[in-house]
Amino acid sequence: MTEVTMTVNGKSVSRAVRGNELLVEFLREQLRLTGTHVGCDTSQCGACNVHVNGEVVKACTMFAAEAQGAEVTTIEGMANADGSLSTIQQAFQDHHGLQCGFCTPGMVMSAAALLKDNPKPSEAEVRHHLQGNICRCTGYHNIVKAIMAASGQDVGAIAAE
Ligand code: FES
Ligand code: FES
Repeated sequence: MTEVTMTVNGKSVSRAVRGNELLVEFLREQLRLTGTHVGCDTSQCGACNVHVNGEVVKACTMFAAEAQGAEVTTIEGMANADGSLSTIQQAFQDHHGLQCGFCTPGMVMSAAALLKDNPKPSEAEVRHHLQGNICRCTGYHNIVKAIMAASGQDVGAIAAE
């Protein structure tokens, strides 16, 4: 076991971790932050997306020990300080960007990373950015629409699902 210390959603945490313990296991099982999901065992679905030092990372592809000293943000850290939904979360709700919701935390984390780097993405850029996120329910249209709306753009021209 190795002692690891990182900041998660603004709070410093220290825990003993196994050498092969994945960041997603650490978040879900040690910290009980179960909004970060596991949807595959092939690093393809993006349900486990979190931010590590401001970059979106699939938490199933990183060992917890590799996050030593890092700033980690999970979906539980994405709401506003008063507990209300963030702009992106609200847009997913307003534009029906989810059905079962299993992919949604990863989608929101991915969208937030996109809008940080590209505040007014085109529809094509949004679709390209989401290539690492799989959704089994929505057909993606309303997810794209939600992200475009969160960026303050007109979504009237985007086809509805
Ligand atoms: S659980 Fe990480 S990519 Fe699917
Ligand atoms: S809403 Fe069900 S997997 Fe995306």
